[in-house]
Amino acid sequence: MPRHVAIIMDGNGRWAKQRHLPRAMGHRRGVEAVREIVRAAGDMGLEALTLYAFSSENWKRPAQEVGDLMGLLKHFIVADIDEFVENGVRLKVIGRYRELAPDIVALIDDAVARTSENSRTTLAVALNYGAQDELVRATSAIAARVAEGSLAPADIDTDAFADALDTADMPPLDLLIRTSGEQRLSNFLLWQCAYAELWFTDTLWPDFSRAHFAQALAEYAARERRFGGR
Ligand code: FPP
Repeated sequence: MPRHVAIIMDGNGRWAKQRHLPRAMGHRRGVEAVREIVRAAGDMGLEALTLYAFSSENWKRPAQEVGDLMGLLKHFIVADIDEFVENGVRLKVIGRYRELAPDIVALIDDAVARTSENSRTTLAVALNYGAQDELVRATSAIAARVAEGSLAPADIDTDAFADALDTADMPPLDLLIRTSGEQRLSNFLLWQCAYAELWFTDTLWPDFSRAHFAQALAEYAARERRFGGR
């Protein structure tokens, strides 16, 4: 059983296109899949699940689509927060989420505070997230500690670096899933993927169900991880 699984939820647009529906419908069904997988993660006793919901590059999409995604995100937080509180889900956000609209930032801060004592599953949602940006921010934070004299350059090691990342309080990433047939990392969790197993499926995200998730975890369990040893 992995401790920490991350998912690049890809294929909402193609799902909608196949059905001659607007892209927004694909995203809406994508949120349904998010719900099902968050519940499954809790049921399976997964410690942490990280979902790539909005990348720092997604701002390049048409304003209408960005607005649709933000609307869905808002609705998701409002509609699901009580279930998180009940089910022991701790909500966390990684990325520069403070650059989102003030009402969304307020909703996020409230939801994070309300679930901060939960310890069953951590759900980290990546918002306005880019891994290169995360690495640069971590480097800058470490440089600031060196400049103020609280950290010696010789003491900068992988643990110190990991502690400066947005995922500092999460277990190591064991498994990365990407849906919709694309096989690339798209600037997601570059440091954290160092020893993660990668699992790809042609299934489009809105069709991704508990059964697909169970299949990914079963295939993960059958893999032999060596972490550079033999
Ligand atoms: C990829 O589909 C998906 C996204 C850009 C974002 C994922 C967002 C959601 C599942 C909904 C919002 C999330 C939460 C947590 C409320 P795509 O549009 O790139 O699909 P395509 O490659 O087929 O065009």
